[in-house]
Amino acid sequence: MDQHKFINRKTFLRLATFGVAATFVVLWSTMAGKNKQLSEQTAVSRINAAKLGTGIFLFDKFIVVKSTSSLKVFSNKCTHAGCRINLEIAGQLVCPCHGSRYDSSTGKVLQGPAGLPLSTIPFDTDVKTGEITIKI
Ligand code: FES
Repeated sequence: MDQHKFINRKTFLRLATFGVAATFVVLWSTMAGKNKQLSEQTAVSRINAAKLGTGIFLFDKFIVVKSTSSLKVFSNKCTHAGCRINLEIAGQLVCPCHGSRYDSSTGKVLQGPAGLPLSTIPFDTDVKTGEITIKI
């Protein structure tokens, strides 16, 4: 009697399909985990605020507004749909996408469609060097 067992084509295709699907699930969950780790990383920026002078300074990920008496850091992400605010006109921070305008000293909305003020970003100041550390 023949001791070899063969699987038929239908069983083979089912096993192959299951194997491919399982591989995709494992790869997808691995990639999703790595993306989550990347998005949770905190970026740190250091700026020597003492050398900035006064004014509005538009950086890649935030906006620094410095007067003679205060220093504020705002997110440059528009609260309407997330565009990067990269314009300053007459003391107003302007979103290039749909024209929302924010007060540069408070972050409050002056003109929509944005409905919420800009987020303030906390920072640490080194009083010896004047350097500020911003964690985003
Ligand atoms: S994303 Fe800024 S106004 Fe729409």
